Amino acid sequence: MGGLARLEYRGYDSAGLAVVTSDRDRVGMRKKAGKLVNLEKELAGRPLEPATAAIGHTRWATHGAPTDANAHPHLAAHGRLAIIHNGIIENFSALRAELQSEGVEFLSETDTEVAGHLLAREVDRGESLADAMRIITRRLEGAFTLLAVDASEPRTVVGARRNSPLVIGLGEGENFLGSDVVAFIEHTRTALELHQDEVVEITPEGVTITDIAGHTVEREPYHVDWDATAAQKGGFPTFMEKEIHDQPTAVADTLRGRIDEHGRLQLDGGMIHENVLNSIDKIIVVACGTAAYAGLVGRNAIEHWCRIPVEVELAHEFRYRDPVVGVKTLVVAISQSGETMDTIMAVRHAQQQGAPVIAIVNSQGSTIAREADAVLYTRAGPEIAVASTKAFLAQITAMFLLGIYLAELRGNKFPDEIESLLDQLEEIPAKIQRVLDASEPVRALARTMADERTVLFLGRHVGYPVAMEGALKLKELAYIHAEGFPAGELKHGPIALIEEGQPVFIVLPSPRGRESLHSKVISNVQEVRARGARTFVIAEEGDTEAANHAEQVFYVPAAPVLMTPLLSVVPLQLFALELATAKGYDVDQPRNLAKSVTVE
Ligand code: AGP
Repeated sequence: MGGLARLEYRGYDSAGLAVVTSDRDRVGMRKKAGKLVNLEKELAGRPLEPATAAIGHTRWATHGAPTDANAHPHLAAHGRLAIIHNGIIENFSALRAELQSEGVEFLSETDTEVAGHLLAREVDRGESLADAMRIITRRLEGAFTLLAVDASEPRTVVGARRNSPLVIGLGEGENFLGSDVVAFIEHTRTALELHQDEVVEITPEGVTITDIAGHTVEREPYHVDWDATAAQKGGFPTFMEKEIHDQPTAVADTLRGRIDEHGRLQLDGGMIHENVLNSIDKIIVVACGTAAYAGLVGRNAIEHWCRIPVEVELAHEFRYRDPVVGVKTLVVAISQSGETMDTIMAVRHAQQQGAPVIAIVNSQGSTIAREADAVLYTRAGPEIAVASTKAFLAQITAMFLLGIYLAELRGNKFPDEIESLLDQLEEIPAKIQRVLDASEPVRALARTMADERTVLFLGRHVGYPVAMEGALKLKELAYIHAEGFPAGELKHGPIALIEEGQPVFIVLPSPRGRESLHSKVISNVQEVRARGARTFVIAEEGDTEAANHAEQVFYVPAAPVLMTPLLSVVPLQLFALELATAKGYDVDQPRNLAKSVTVE
């Protein structure tokens, strides 16, 4: 249970344990929704027998609400086999239908249970648990870490991984598997990594790693020199740093498995009838803070793709201005926590006016997710740091998915255009990684600016919400006054703020394209620089013009204009993080802030 407790930061909406012993032909299992303490109470009241092999899981739900039934482990083979899973099995619907056609009955809504029954079917056909795992791994699509036990092999745990972590711990007369070294670090610091599409079989006596075809793989162990706290952060010094580096995965996971074989977007929970979505004549986004800025980015995309007017309203302002909302208004509530009271109240107001509500939420089963008419979950994983980063990128991604879905449904886009947009989105995670890999220059700049008292951020079009988000990150993390505003607004007043040495970040649009705003924003850079500002520009790789007008340019890979915020915000996140770190501040728990503002 100690290992589960240290893994709880990875997901905490339910937990469970399954054990096998040599004198029983069934798995012993306990699982409970809610925090790990609920499972501990269950075990105290109904203890499990001593085990020769066991698997445990804390859940961050992606398919199916956080209930006892949906908690892991899941049983199969009439209770002889148990399985746990991290990730998303994209083709679980088709596999579930295949199993149901063979008479398999499901007890949960999860994709995990599908894998369990596939595994049991192979074991029942005479395969060893390890061979069965190799067989089903070849059929699964998506991202997964799977662990399973079978009472017919009471000294064995078998695991497999694809696009999701799994680490092996080598002990004395005992061996371990975990999604993170923190799961077993109290027992051993000798570890082995499992690589993509590999299967591992552990017993108290030994560890066997093979590839998906069954060929044995030899691998050198390594020593884990992290302490348990560092391990929770994946070796990064803070959750903030870890979560910024989680962003490629957060975007990839939010995209993963969303489009069915007919090219239609799969929403997660509830449904708004297509006739309703076809009849809407306005969209209003309600959100707060960073989530509202994600809404601003999404607005440009949805208006461009769907030709529906989109308003973005700060949730705490929305219901007090007596907005024009009705059955033809689609309200989109964006919230990482799903518990922001301002946004909850905005959702309730919209529903009282008869408007259908779609929630874009990161926390499964949260209030906003439960009360909305439909849900499109971001799959950023738990965001522990108070200042939002990976959830922001996942929210933008989900807004794009919603826009693509509506454009396809309402006939604004042809299938090949939809496919092209999805292909362009699929390329974004690798581009984010490239920005992260080139982060030292902006970090170095931040370390020189710890004494700055005010920083301005300019952007235009989709660069404007990026400027707002960059300013918010600096306020939240480094407690420095920062203001983001549209670059075009500069000469309407804010330029009076410019004086010698004033730091100004400018998010520069791509120079490509007829409608580019590039030259206009270059003029803004010249205007502030002429008045003594220090100009730091975020620009597209290859934009040599930018370097002629900026003190320093931070380049990001080229991307379709509407998608550029997924890249241009990253240097600003890193700048704020590094500057706050240079000032010695707690970047995970900034002063005065809470991760979720549950009061109005
Ligand atoms: C973002 O860094 C802030 N922590 C804050 O603006 C946050 O985005 C806002 O409070 C909304 O929270 P939510 O997404 O959980 O609703």
